[in-house]
Amino acid sequence: MKDIIIATTNAGKFREIRSLIAGGFERFYSLLDLHDQVTVDENSPFYAENAMKKARKIGEHFGMAALADDSGLEVKALGGRPGVHSSRYGKDDAHRISRLLGELEGIPWEERNAVFKAYVALHIPQKDRCYVFYGELKGYIGFEEHGTNGFGYDPVFYSPELDRYLAELSTEEKNILSHRGRAIAALKRFIGTTPK
Ligand code: IMP
Repeated sequence: MKDIIIATTNAGKFREIRSLIAGGFERFYSLLDLHDQVTVDENSPFYAENAMKKARKIGEHFGMAALADDSGLEVKALGGRPGVHSSRYGKDDAHRISRLLGELEGIPWEERNAVFKAYVALHIPQKDRCYVFYGELKGYIGFEEHGTNGFGYDPVFYSPELDRYLAELSTEEKNILSHRGRAIAALKRFIGTTPK
């Protein structure tokens, strides 16, 4: 296993994941490096199923190991919303955040707990195997935005562990503790202990 496709067209996400799994593979490709277009419907209500579907389809199409992720934010007071629909909760990050804050209006701090969940799937076509890894980050949804780094719901997600909002962290700080960072750390431990 020398080559791997990181199934994303997002250059930032590609760099983040590549740096996290560096050493496990020799050559890294993103979907932007490959000319064929492969479409995958992420329409399952389960993150793990979406991640596996994407990794399997892309791995089989290109005949290489493929890594795909699916993630979301779950807010307990909202019955777990936006959850698997996190990326479609509004037309852009600003709308998604204002919708979330609006739905939480009047909810006190101690009931604003939330969790970021990430599932990362690794499909290895040569072995016809797909492995899934999980990571989570617990925190609270604040009353207003803090910080300008990161993406998505980062400006309103407060981490008690770090005593900061995610958008106040550098990419390196966020990578170590984030839900995706933790899922990828589990994947790295697995690659390290699995015979090639
Ligand atoms: P996907 O896994 O790329 O489909 O993204 C799911 C959605 O969840 C993103 O579009 C964001 O809205 C949200 N999300 C996932 N991870 C993060 C994160 O680390 N910070 C902020 N928002 C996130």
